[in-house]
Amino acid sequence: MKRVLPAALLALAFAASAASAKSSGSAPSPDPLIARGRYLVGFGSCNDCHTPGWRESDGTVPLAQWMTGSKLGYRGPWGTSYPSNVRLEFQRISEDAWLSMVRTRGGHWPMVWHDLRLLALDDQRAIYRFVKSLGAKGVPAPADLPSGIEPSTPYIWVVPHT
Ligand code: HEC
Repeated sequence: MKRVLPAALLALAFAASAASAKSSGSAPSPDPLIARGRYLVGFGSCNDCHTPGWRESDGTVPLAQWMTGSKLGYRGPWGTSYPSNVRLEFQRISEDAWLSMVRTRGGHWPMVWHDLRLLALDDQRAIYRFVKSLGAKGVPAPADLPSGIEPSTPYIWVVPHT
């Protein structure tokens, strides 16, 4: 019995240290899809419309301002639509809701739903995770206007001349 006790204590001490290593262990490694999402948002021209001042600054708007929506409308036969504040939107909706939006929305100028549909599912997820990881920021973009209503904001005409 005398010899069993130290062995049992040793086992207990080992179990305790393993448990504490688990709880105080190194931070979980970041989701690799987040870095991929940043790359895709950059190359996907999302900032051109959804980040105020992106083009004017030659793409130097700090990350903290990315995807906060724009008051510059896009006006055409459908009325005027505004690039949404995706930072707020992605805090509100789930990743699955975003994936279904990509599958089902479209034909709504000038948003690039048709291009997003061509991405692999993991790339579509990556865009969501990256923008969501930036956190909520800014205010909602102005509400869309029906055709015939004159916008009170600046806008771009997107009507082809034939
Ligand atoms: C040419 C301008 C333009 C580009 C480029 C663009 N968007 Fe948009 N986006 C818009 C406009 C305008 C709307 C609002 C109309 C709509 O919902 O279809 C919109 C809507 C959205 C919405 C819907 C938000 C909501 O409230 O329902 C999301 C999300 C979004 N864009 C993400 C992106 C991402 C991600 C990219 C890059 C791959 C991108 N957009 C590129 C103009 C653009």
